[in-house]
Amino acid sequence: MAATEKQPVTGAGPFNGILTWVDERFPLMATLKSHLTEYYAPKNFNFWYYFGSLALLVLVLQIATGLFLTMNYKPDATVAFASVEYIMRDVSWGWLIRYMHSTGASAFFVCVYLHMFRALLYGSYRKPRELLWIIGMLIFLCLMAEAFFGYLLPWGQMSYWGAQVIVNLFDAIPIIGPDLAIWIRGDYVVSDATLNRFFAFHVIAIPFALAGLVAAHLLALHEVGSNNPDGIEIKKSKDPKTGIPLDGIPFHPYYTVKDIFGVSVFMLVFAIVVFFAPEFGGYFLEYNNFVAADPLRTPLHIAPVWYFTPYYSILRSFTINFFWVDAKVWGVIAMGASTMIFFLLPWLDRSPAKSIRYRGPIYKTALALFVMCFLILGYLGTQPVSEGKTLIAQICTAIYFLFFALMPWYTAIDKCRPEPERVTK
Ligand code: HEM
Repeated sequence: MAATEKQPVTGAGPFNGILTWVDERFPLMATLKSHLTEYYAPKNFNFWYYFGSLALLVLVLQIATGLFLTMNYKPDATVAFASVEYIMRDVSWGWLIRYMHSTGASAFFVCVYLHMFRALLYGSYRKPRELLWIIGMLIFLCLMAEAFFGYLLPWGQMSYWGAQVIVNLFDAIPIIGPDLAIWIRGDYVVSDATLNRFFAFHVIAIPFALAGLVAAHLLALHEVGSNNPDGIEIKKSKDPKTGIPLDGIPFHPYYTVKDIFGVSVFMLVFAIVVFFAPEFGGYFLEYNNFVAADPLRTPLHIAPVWYFTPYYSILRSFTINFFWVDAKVWGVIAMGASTMIFFLLPWLDRSPAKSIRYRGPIYKTALALFVMCFLILGYLGTQPVSEGKTLIAQICTAIYFLFFALMPWYTAIDKCRPEPERVTK
């Protein structure tokens, strides 16, 4: 439609004039309509649907607090640790900004893990949302890279030795491994050069990639429409006159208001952690990281932050060499596969029903077992190794992979209930 044919903006009070002026030059109203006031979301969203908007909130919080941290942080191995102490003790409100950012990192993973679990509950990765899921997985990989790069910046003992352990994993790759590890570090050990490049990735490259991917994620979601706890497509039952889904309600104002409630509860819990337990018993900020990095003194027990520990356990659970390949290499392959395998979910799942509400007992049991193993692996990853713990980690790793490997079979034979025509509750 030509700019002059547009209707003037009405109903916005004193801003009508300026909004009309903008709208004649930019698709303002059309965008607001298609993504908010005329985006029809299923009317039965429940608790699990809070975490997408909360992840968005945490992304904004991390970028805002990160910006202020960068104003006083120094990415130089000789002063990085001291600059963080300076932020904590001397910069006005520096302690608050830093604790919000460190707690925000954990909050991000809490939100994203629950957001992904919702997709497993309701089959949200299934057709037609495969691309939305793939973009989500790319976000997840970026998020892991962002957290890993960020953790080196305070230049504490855990920052240093954690990075050393993870970069050394690349060393295990046959032929190119040793050169690759040096290329990543920019040195033979983790050093100032490593800190500089990790800083560059943490503040520029990955945040840009994340922002772009989140925009693509939302565009893909709005193209196909949201799934819901019943796992049925609301676009199949439309009002013949208006073409609006009968079970859909406009995202704004209904879900904007619902999300404001979620944001309020989240901010309350977030504030309690930031003000009363920012280290969270060593899980959000490890105690060893309050000691400056010392390349000559390896800590007795090196463990990643909680959100990486399930994968760390999978890595450590490979203890024997087979097919002439070193156990460490198998560990690295399994650790990589344990995240990459999620990309395949849309094609592994053959159940006639999407939502857990209508699936049979086999999927319910498989999902419960998978979640239990993920949590146990997460716990074991925080602990020093022992024979007994390694055996439990091996069993859990096997169940973790069987959940995916056997999915095409058990979802096909599972006894599902018929899905309803219209959404229920
Ligand atoms: C920065 C991280 C992320 C942000 C800000 C984000 C944001 C959102 C938002 C706002 C929604 C719509 C509201 C909702 O359904 O909760 C959504 C839906 C969805 N997201 Fe994400 N997301 C993120 C990460 C991920 C990841 C890591 C995955 C999976 C690998 C994922 C998969 C999905 C799926 C499948 C849906 C559709 C759910 C449904 O309709 O039932 N997202 N996301």
